[in-house]
Amino acid sequence: MLNPLLDTLSDYPFEALRTLLNPVTPVINDPPIIMSLGEPQHQPPALLTETLMAHAHEWNKYPPMAGTPELRQAIADWLTRRYRLPDGVVDPDRHIANLGGTKEGLYLFSSLVVPREKAGRRPVVLVPNPYYLVYNGAATMAGAEAVFLDATAENGFMPDLAAIPRETWERAALFYLCSPANPQGTIAEIDYLKQAIDLARRYDFVLAVDECYAEIWDRAPPPGALEACAALGDGFRNVVVFHSLSKRSSAAGLRSGFVAGDPALIGHFKHLRDYGGCQVPLPIQAAAAALWRDEAHVEENRTRYRRKFDIAEAALAGRFGFYRPQGGFFLWLDVGDGEEAALRLWREAAVRVLPGGYTARAAAGRANPGARYIRLAIVHDEATLETAFARIARVL
Ligand SMILES: Cc1ncc(COP(=O)(O)O)c(C=O)c1O
Repeated sequence: MLNPLLDTLSDYPFEALRTLLNPVTPVINDPPIIMSLGEPQHQPPALLTETLMAHAHEWNKYPPMAGTPELRQAIADWLTRRYRLPDGVVDPDRHIANLGGTKEGLYLFSSLVVPREKAGRRPVVLVPNPYYLVYNGAATMAGAEAVFLDATAENGFMPDLAAIPRETWERAALFYLCSPANPQGTIAEIDYLKQAIDLARRYDFVLAVDECYAEIWDRAPPPGALEACAALGDGFRNVVVFHSLSKRSSAAGLRSGFVAGDPALIGHFKHLRDYGGCQVPLPIQAAAAALWRDEAHVEENRTRYRRKFDIAEAALAGRFGFYRPQGGFFLWLDVGDGEEAALRLWREAAVRVLPGGYTARAAAGRANPGARYIRLAIVHDEATLETAFARIARVL
């Protein structure tokens, strides 16, 4: 009765984490600190609620699926400012589709672009390893073979494009790339993005760059794939990017994001969403437009994350392979055995972290590249973080 492909989706990391930790009661009475979940803890700016209230009379209306013209214009303006694109290059009608958060768009995109066969064989979806679970789920449910590209300390935590055989490129239908990467925080530099775009065009696959952490950065703003397209010429052919207000505006509950890029793909994607997508309510679209137009709250947000990384660095530098992530809000710590460390941290310190192996997998005979690691979301207030790091340093 059920789609048999579902059986292969056994990797939901938080389910595995519950199985590991729920039977265990911490031995200390101090309040638990949950660092396993990448959920922003800052409050979104007042602008969000104010705009929702101002548009409260619109809840009765069916909203346009692709996004209101006002929202798409605000997004086009933001993309142009943020990535220094030439004026007019981003057309709000042809290049942008609104999403209820990036998760649904990332998932649905594979249904759009994975054919039954590519180069006479089963198509491939390229997935960085470790990965955001949706990439694997989308690949699997579209009937593709997910090929996992290990992103390890040895290759600077970015998939090594030169190591991928020609035969795999030929079968590739879709390549999910995440920058800044969850969990490692690595930024794909502009030349890397250009190389990936060249490959997408040469082998005719879609490069889908998940840029949902693009606004949480430490020293320099991460370049974007649309910026790389502009540098290469030839429009946004074969490329789409995903952006979200979940992290940029600490508004994960708003469920608002967008996909932008190749006009042909965006056109077909809107058509597909007309069947299976969910419209975003008009007050939410209005709030999203206001947030994309405001930079002050984003700068403040970034400053607060930088302080959290200062605290992490002061507490952990020189241990667990600590490095200051270039972007995003995770620490990726080499603790030797991530599962054992997560168990010990929960039992002895009431600190809940995600074993790195739960967000990665052993593929093609190689070891799970996350197995030695734990992932910590650095989202709490500074005092809580100080306490958490002190507990971690005591126990590990
Ligand atoms: C790498 C990555 N992509 C996408 C998402 C989805 O974010 P949202 O649907 O809230 O935009 C997340 C959420 O944690 C994520 O970590």
